Amino acid sequence: MSSREAYVRALPKAELHLHIEGTLEPELAFRLAQQHGVVLPYASVAELRAAYDFTDLQSFLDVYYALADVLRDADDFYELALSYLQRAHEQGVVHAEVFFDPQTHTARGIAFDTVVAGLHRALTEAERRFGMTHRLIACFLRHLSAADAMLTLDAVLAHRQIIAAVGLDSAEAGHPPSKFVAVFERAREQGLLAVAHAGEEGPPAYIREALDLLAVRRIDHGVRCEEDAKLMQRLAREQIALTVCPLSNVKLGVFERIEQHNLKRLLEAGLCVTVNSDDPAYFGGYLLENYLAVERALGLTSEQLATLARNSIEGSFLDAVAKRRWLTAIDECARGELAH
Ligand code: ADE
Ligand code: ZN
Repeated sequence: MSSREAYVRALPKAELHLHIEGTLEPELAFRLAQQHGVVLPYASVAELRAAYDFTDLQSFLDVYYALADVLRDADDFYELALSYLQRAHEQGVVHAEVFFDPQTHTARGIAFDTVVAGLHRALTEAERRFGMTHRLIACFLRHLSAADAMLTLDAVLAHRQIIAAVGLDSAEAGHPPSKFVAVFERAREQGLLAVAHAGEEGPPAYIREALDLLAVRRIDHGVRCEEDAKLMQRLAREQIALTVCPLSNVKLGVFERIEQHNLKRLLEAGLCVTVNSDDPAYFGGYLLENYLAVERALGLTSEQLATLARNSIEGSFLDAVAKRRWLTAIDECARGELAH
């Protein structure tokens, strides 16, 4: 292991943009398919991996939604989540804010309660075993109607004690945040926090809408903010965290090559940029691999890597005491690295 890798691993980090369904590794998908008698449209793990040659967001979502069909009972969701949490812990993730897509499962007849029961069991076990904290975030699928999202919100509210926030994901173009104003308003009135995917494939105007109409605390992706100088200035001034996912962006064609990624420019413009893995089983790497990919391709300094880790804590939904604790630990880690 290089010393740079050891340093990035040792930095306490929060992961703020992680779809639990996106951690479904092909091997687990095939095992669960066999167990539940689900016929997958792929003959083998190798054939499935070969299908991960995505051209854009929709080409990925087609495979992602198809594979989610193997998740049937609470034990499946538990195993899925615990595998991710174990791996994240080994990479120095101290806090994970985990997305799940309720409608992907309820539309197939899997009860909301089943999904949440499995996820919650894994999250509390990771807290007990690894000291890793978490928040659970229920995302609405934006290609479905606002009425469907409102019905999903009823189920979310029935689990208020264990769901911290709502989010918005799936096919972005043509499904602006403004479609979901009433849903987010009700969620916020009920005390839930809000985040939304915006500015991944959609225009900078969707980032503005997410902030102004949905009152989100963070923007998931947000990389297309660079097309709008005023918006960039606002994001920097208000220190709105962007949960950037470098390997995802390359896999889905947002940037052709990792060397062209704008993460370093956004960071140097003073935005609260964070690094995340999005759907690591599909995009070729978990959180550590995402950090290392941008570190190598963009030439980030040790201090910039520490800033990314600090931003992940600052942008999280942790309370002030926990944030202070991790920020101090990051400072110590960075001082140790700079003294080398
Ligand atoms: N669902 C899972 N990953 C996503 C992404 N990168 N963008 C939108 N929806 C998603
Ligand atoms: Zn995402």
